[in-house]
Amino acid sequence: MMIYLDNAATSFPKPNTVLRAMNDFLERAGGNPGRSGHRLSIEAGRIVYDVRETLAELFRARDPLRVIFTLNATHAINLVLRGILRAGDRVVTTSIEHNAVMRPLRALERAGVQLVIVPCARDGTLDLEAMRRTLTRGTRLVVVNHASNVIGTILPIAEMARLAHDVGALVLVDAAQTAGVVPIDIEAMQIDLLAFTGHKGLYGPPGVGGLVIGENVDVAMIEPLMRGGTGSHSEFEEQPDDLPDKFESGTPNGVGIAGLGAGVRFVLERGVDAIRAHEVELTRALIAGLGEIPGVIVHGTRDAELQTATVSFTVTHRRVSEIGLRLDEEFGVLCRVGLHCAPAAHRTIGTFPEGTVRFAPSVFTTRDDIRAAVDAVRRIVQG
Ligand code: ALA
Repeated sequence: MMIYLDNAATSFPKPNTVLRAMNDFLERAGGNPGRSGHRLSIEAGRIVYDVRETLAELFRARDPLRVIFTLNATHAINLVLRGILRAGDRVVTTSIEHNAVMRPLRALERAGVQLVIVPCARDGTLDLEAMRRTLTRGTRLVVVNHASNVIGTILPIAEMARLAHDVGALVLVDAAQTAGVVPIDIEAMQIDLLAFTGHKGLYGPPGVGGLVIGENVDVAMIEPLMRGGTGSHSEFEEQPDDLPDKFESGTPNGVGIAGLGAGVRFVLERGVDAIRAHEVELTRALIAGLGEIPGVIVHGTRDAELQTATVSFTVTHRRVSEIGLRLDEEFGVLCRVGLHCAPAAHRTIGTFPEGTVRFAPSVFTTRDDIRAAVDAVRRIVQG
């Protein structure tokens, strides 16, 4: 028996349509998109463009050409941070960010960028008034995760964006944990730049993610992270300014993009609201079940409506590594323990340096899976 509860790291299993789309791409459309004029290249280009359109539909972006494919969310975040921020600029973030945000920001800080970190509460919630006080004129960018990858707390993006725009700052949202599982409308939420990954809530393969650039963002101010061949304007040795080519040099991961497209279609067919409702129900059961076990401390808001299906816990006087190992070896429950690449978040919630045990179900997880996982924890803790 296996119960996979590590969907915040990567989702498993993937829908069969994802596997089929990847196989079909290699079998029937194996050309290099946008490079050559023959049928296989045109077919590959069509598939890549269709996936841009599907992603634009999911995030309610008007122009599919403003959907840039990247390797993953980290790549998209680096593209923006290193593309926009210069010495002397001021950037604001929160204390529950992943290292995908923190590490590039710390490097930029050493290069003369002023970094301001707004502290979140122990449950990951953010005091909007504290954010407002931090947002002085001259702030160039606000970068925040939509939801914590450690405790799932969902941040009030639209409200933060309003505060950021009041002082003329742009907003970059790290949606690694929310794309596909929490509704995202980049216009209604006033998101300027949305970084997402394909292999978590969008059910695609690893190795593909993206950046959605809002209509109001002047792309001239974003320097590309890489320059190279784009299949367009080949007569010039300078990088083209057109989208998406400015930020997409080199042969794209066509097979990964095809798989991602099938994953996003799966999400759109089920409906993000229905997926969210299922995950809220599982989260509620997890929080209640784990919370009843003496010695187990559930971290975060403990309110399924305020978080994603990412539940972190610790056990008094027990190592998280021991619990994770026994869950896998004795009960077939697969999860992630430790710091989850987010030391700042663990400092904020008071679990640094040991970390937590993290359970993260998906659309494929059942109530029975949750019952069995909670029972396994109870037996380990009480045994
Ligand atoms: N960032 C991913 C996680 O939280 C890999 O596990």
